[in-house]
Amino acid sequence: MKVEANKVNALVVKPNLVVTVRDNEGNDNALVVAYAGNCSYDPPMIMMGIVPSRYSHHMIKENGSFVVHLLDESQTELYECCGSKSGRDSDKLKDYGVELTDGVKVNAGVITKCPVAIECTVVDSIMTGSHEMFIGKVEYVHAEKESLLEDGKIDLSKLNLM
Ligand SMILES: Cc1cc2nc3c(=O)[nH]c(=O)nc-3n(C[C@H](O)[C@H](O)[C@H](O)COP(=O)(O)O)c2cc1C
Repeated sequence: MKVEANKVNALVVKPNLVVTVRDNEGNDNALVVAYAGNCSYDPPMIMMGIVPSRYSHHMIKENGSFVVHLLDESQTELYECCGSKSGRDSDKLKDYGVELTDGVKVNAGVITKCPVAIECTVVDSIMTGSHEMFIGKVEYVHAEKESLLEDGKIDLSKLNLM
């Protein structure tokens, strides 16, 4: 049966990610991103797409940094807040009481309670249509100690991810 091209969502695996960004004045913001994935393992690169109308869009354009967070299953409220409220209307991170630390390598906030956080620097971007896809070089990875294997890889099965 024929399916219209604009109905194809089969490749949207929908990772449950929250991405943090920071503007040039040092304001932090976060949004939920489903259009994301790995796009190179050597060097390690991540791609993620932001619709230009999102408030976060100008922030990432301003300083070229972002942090991708995998969430614990207990963090559904944070996820819902970041995916439904806009930084244009309120400081959702502050309102929700999210604890942030500065990135080790990038100029963006890291949500301390997330089991995995991946700091990235934007090296390129492409307007694909609805989204601007940002290619991020992985600069630093935070992960819960209990999830690490002997070879340093993260065993996602040891985390209770959303
Ligand atoms: C499940 C889910 C997936 C989403 N995926 C994306 C995405 O890939 N790219 C995007 O720009 N917005 C996506 N959004 C929408 C933004 O997270 C949402 O509009 C957010 O409020 C934008 O915040 P901001 O205006 O502060 O940037 C998604 C929302 C949900 C609930």
